[in-house]
Amino acid sequence: MKTVADDTLFNQAKERLTSAHRVAALTGAGISAESGVPTFRGAGGLWKNYRSEDLATPEAFARDPQTVWEWYNWRRGLIAEKSPNPGHEALAELERTKDFTLITQNVDGLHRSAGNQNILELHGCLFRVRCSKCQYQREDRTIPLPYPPNCPDCGKLLRPDVVWFGESLNATTLEKAFQAAQVCEVMLVVGTSAVVQPAASLAWQAKRSGGFVVEINVQESAFSSEADAVLLGPSGEILPRLVEGL
Ligand code: OAD
Repeated sequence: MKTVADDTLFNQAKERLTSAHRVAALTGAGISAESGVPTFRGAGGLWKNYRSEDLATPEAFARDPQTVWEWYNWRRGLIAEKSPNPGHEALAELERTKDFTLITQNVDGLHRSAGNQNILELHGCLFRVRCSKCQYQREDRTIPLPYPPNCPDCGKLLRPDVVWFGESLNATTLEKAFQAAQVCEVMLVVGTSAVVQPAASLAWQAKRSGGFVVEINVQESAFSSEADAVLLGPSGEILPRLVEGL
């Protein structure tokens, strides 16, 4: 693993990024931290204060959908007030200058608000709802969503369109993400603890396929020892410098 205290690795990462045609990024909750969105792990993380088994599993929703919806309404309300930060904006700029695929584990929608369009939302989006029984889904920014939200097609309960623990990711989205990881010349791994599978394995995939993998995080992650360069610091500061002038 290589970490950066001086500018050497930063410059190397920037050179690689400058010459690359195909670039991918894998982002996690850390990129939205500077927008005021809580992360999941670490100090103040959501999973320090809430039990995921009670709120983010299909079993929890079957047992007590109202509590699950209250928690999601709270998160939707919190995030609806937030704006993209310079880290998000730098990745939007990257889409304008490169063949760029943005793979995110985040459900906050802030990459889209920043202007990215080629986004693979591995874990879904808080501002979409779908039926728990049929195929119905829609975008929905009503906050709070009055309880119980029912499907206009079949009358069953709507749920947030996010992936819960124990559920599979959308197969097409995941396949596209692996393709992007395989073909990218540079992958940026930003603000993720890299412990949740299969999302985290995309970073390893990029590395195995010969990509130059740059990690940006305020601290080392489970992936750091594999990264070609670890740039330690807030993504809202490092990403704009990395992307500037490309
Ligand atoms: P985590 O909360 O596990 O990790 C957040 C990472 O962001 C940590 O490595 C922090 O060090 C880093 N970080 C914090 N502030 C930062 C900043 N300003 N700049 C750069 N890095 C910063 O979040 P994820 O890795 O995204 O899944 O978690 C993965 C999945 O676990 C989530 O998508 C969610 C959760 O359970 C589902 O909901 C399915």
